[in-house]
Amino acid sequence: MSTTINVPPGLRNVVVTETTLGDVRGDEGFYHYRQYSAIDLAKSKTLEDVWFLMFEARLPTAEERDRFVAELAPLRVLPDEVRAVLPAIATAGPSFNPLAGLRTALSLLAAVRSLAPLWDADPVRRKADAMLVCAVTPTILAALYRLREGQEPLEPRADLTAAANWLYMVTGAEPSAVQAAAIEHYLVATVDHGFNASTFTARVIASTGADVVAAIAGAIGAFSGPLHGGAPDRALASLDEIGTPDRIDAWVRAKVSAGDRIMGFGHAVYRTEDPRSLMLRDIARGLGGDLVDFATTVEQRIVDVLAELKPGRNLYANVEFYAGVVMELCGLPRPMFTPTFTVSRVIGWSANILEQSTDPKIIRPIATYVGPQPPVPVV
Ligand SMILES: CC(C)(COP(=O)(O)OP(=O)(O)OC[C@H]1O[C@@H](n2cnc3c(N)ncnc32)[C@H](O)[C@@H]1OP(=O)(O)O)[C@@H](O)C(=O)NCCC(=O)NCCS
Repeated sequence: MSTTINVPPGLRNVVVTETTLGDVRGDEGFYHYRQYSAIDLAKSKTLEDVWFLMFEARLPTAEERDRFVAELAPLRVLPDEVRAVLPAIATAGPSFNPLAGLRTALSLLAAVRSLAPLWDADPVRRKADAMLVCAVTPTILAALYRLREGQEPLEPRADLTAAANWLYMVTGAEPSAVQAAAIEHYLVATVDHGFNASTFTARVIASTGADVVAAIAGAIGAFSGPLHGGAPDRALASLDEIGTPDRIDAWVRAKVSAGDRIMGFGHAVYRTEDPRSLMLRDIARGLGGDLVDFATTVEQRIVDVLAELKPGRNLYANVEFYAGVVMELCGLPRPMFTPTFTVSRVIGWSANILEQSTDPKIIRPIATYVGPQPPVPVV
């Protein structure tokens, strides 16, 4: 008889594998990609540098970076078969759901590009498939947004940085250098973050030997939930709802007593301030304005009131709170907040998928059955 092991709810603190991609140290408020502090990378490196780091396990030389960027340029362009169906996807349904649209478009991409199951593909092919998916994701997301808005999609521009190109493809305007830098910092800081729900989902699917898009589509599904990646627009909506500083306390107390969560606060791993939030708060302050002043007041009050109502839980602002503020100030429309997070996180998911694909063991836990005692006669 095999031995069973009961693990804590939510798999909290359960180690499921080894990784060389990075880690989150919740008590220290620190996380890293490979051997580098992710925040240090965010402050000094481009998205492509960090993409290369995640895929190749080292930072590129200047020459390697240029080659990498050149290699990516054609992959960013929408394949005709995908381009043809985007208008239908973008306008389907009464409300716009860019992540659902991305999943749909990527599934078509997998078909038209005959993506190979990871199990059958060699490492070169696996990496090529992952590169394609990461490169085309921003183009698909931006095109879906513009089509929904009744505008023509814009072609990606190889002369812009990843962040500037993203802002341009969504808004139609070239961003200022300050806006592009703010979003680049954000993108680099959100490439990866330990074994979170979407990354774990991606790795579970990769462990079955399915193709890269199957794993990414699953990750997108996990990511879209408000408890995971779907919070930045909700956090900003909270600022609107609160409206003025005198209403903060009453608003938080009413939410918590109704059993609601305050979006943009709390974290499954951090028990101190989220380093991404600290970086984004600095960036927001650099951008300046009334929204930032209000957000910092709200943040402080929410932390204080949560400390009183939920003592000992160490609830602080997470990445989503100031992400919403920064994106708003950089001209991104709210429906594109979580998609912006997806533009960077798809790289982390892909690195995890590539790493998982080298392990032949399928991830297959069990559950404790708690229903009526079987076998009951079938009548
Ligand atoms: C991120 C999140 C899902 C982590 O969940 P978790 O690991 O279950 O949270 P914890 O175990 O730390 O929760 C401990 C306690 O704090 C409470 N709590 C956690 N986050 C809270 C929040 N944002 N607002 C109010 N209470 C919160 C929990 O309800 C729990 O209360 P209890 O002890 O009375 O049951 C959770 O903090 C959350 O829902 N935050 C809001 C959504 C969000 O911002 N998501 C983006 C994450 S990057």
